[in-house]
Amino acid sequence: MPNLLIRNAAELATVAGPDAARAGAAQGQVELIPDGAVYCEGERIVAAGPTDEVLAMHPQSAQAETVLDARGRAVIPGLVDCHAHPVFAGDRSDEYAERLRGTPYMEILKRGGGILKSVRHTRAASHAELLAGLRERLDRALAQGTTTLEAKSGYGLDESTERKMLEVIRAANAGADRHPIDLVPTLLFAHAVPQGSSADEVVKAAVEATPRLAPLAEYVDVFCERGIFDIAQSRKVLEAGQAAGLKVKAHAEELCLLGGAKLVADLGGTSADHLCFTDDATIAAMRQAGTVAVFLPGTPFVLRMAYSDARRWIAGGVAVACATDLNPNCYCESLPFVFTLSVYEMKMTPAEALVAITINAATALDRAHEIGSLAAGKLADMAILRGPSYLHLGYHLGGNPVQAVVKRGRVVSGGL
Ligand code: NIG
Ligand code: FE
Repeated sequence: MPNLLIRNAAELATVAGPDAARAGAAQGQVELIPDGAVYCEGERIVAAGPTDEVLAMHPQSAQAETVLDARGRAVIPGLVDCHAHPVFAGDRSDEYAERLRGTPYMEILKRGGGILKSVRHTRAASHAELLAGLRERLDRALAQGTTTLEAKSGYGLDESTERKMLEVIRAANAGADRHPIDLVPTLLFAHAVPQGSSADEVVKAAVEATPRLAPLAEYVDVFCERGIFDIAQSRKVLEAGQAAGLKVKAHAEELCLLGGAKLVADLGGTSADHLCFTDDATIAAMRQAGTVAVFLPGTPFVLRMAYSDARRWIAGGVAVACATDLNPNCYCESLPFVFTLSVYEMKMTPAEALVAITINAATALDRAHEIGSLAAGKLADMAILRGPSYLHLGYHLGGNPVQAVVKRGRVVSGGL
C-alpha cells in the first residue's frame, strides 16, 4: 500500500472535532498545530498531529514512499465545493458585459438569455464536448485546493439533456483516467422555464422524469424564486426527488424572500443555498431541522447585490457552508476567492470561513464522516499552501495560494 508523509508543516489546520456541522461558536474554532505532520496509508489518514509525535507513534512513516517537507507552509483539509454547476457549453461573456452596462440578470433570462442560452448550447453539445469542458474546470478547481465538488445538471430542462449531463458527471469519475476530484451529482431539472413553456409544464416533466434520472444522482434541487418556480411548484419537484430516494437541496432566497429555505427545512433537506434574504422564522426552522445554510458570495459579487447576512445566521445557530456556485454567470472555480469574499464581504472570521469550505461543506454533502477535516480514518485529502498559515487563503490575493494538492493519499496537483 503506497504511503505518504507530510512533515514539519509550519501550521497544520486540522479542523478537528465532531464529524458533523459546526454551528454557532463552534463554527469559529479550528485546531492549529505548529510543526505538524500527516501520515497516510493508501487512501486514508493514519495520524495527524505534531511532527515529533507522529514520527514517534509511526516510525515507519519516515520511510514512506512519498515524504513532503512542508517547512514554511500550511496544510489544510482538501476543500469541499458543495454547490457548483460545472457542466455547460457555450460562452456568456457577452452577457457579463451587458450586465456591467446595467441590464439585470432576470431581464437577460426573460428574453431567452442567461440559463436559457446555456441550455441551447448544452443541448447541442456532445457528451465528449461536455466532458472536456468539465474536466478543464475541474483541473482549475483542483489546482486551487478543491478535492470534492458537487455537480448539478440543469442546462437541459428536458429529460435527454439532463440525462446527458448526469452521465457526463458520472463519466468524469469513472475509468482509468478518472478525475481526482470526487463529484457528487445533483439533479436540477427544474432550473428555468423555456420560452413558450410554463413553469407547471417544466414541473410536470421534472416530476415524471425524476424516477428515471434518480439512479444517476444523489440530490434533487430546484430554482425556487419569484418568476421561476414558486413554493408549491418547488415542493412538487423536491417531493418527487425524495420519493425517488434523493436528498434535498434548493436554490432559495437568492433574489427575494419567498420561503424556499423554510420548505427545505420542512422536508428535512440537507441544505438551502444562496439565502441572500431571510427572516428569524426561517433561521429557526433551519436550525431545528439541522439544514446547512450554503452561501455563494461569488453570485452577489457578480450581480452587485446584497450578500447573505452571515453574522445573523451564525448567531442564529445555523451551520454555514460557503461554495463557488461555479456556473456561466458566476464563472469561478476558486474556493480561496470564496474564502476572501466570505471574510471581507460577509464579515466571517477566517476560522469560520475555513470551517465553511471544509467540514460544513462536507456536511452539506452528507460526507462529514469521510472528508472535511484531518483525522485518522478519513480520506487523505489535503491542500498544502504556499504560505505558513491557513490565513493565506484570503490574505494572498489575486493568485493561487495553493502549492500542492493531495487526493486520496496521492499528490495530484502541484508539488513541493
Ligand atoms: O445558482 N440561480 C440559479 N442558478 C444559478 C445560475 C445559473 C446560471 O445563470 O447559469 C445560480 O446562481
Ligand atoms: Fe447555483
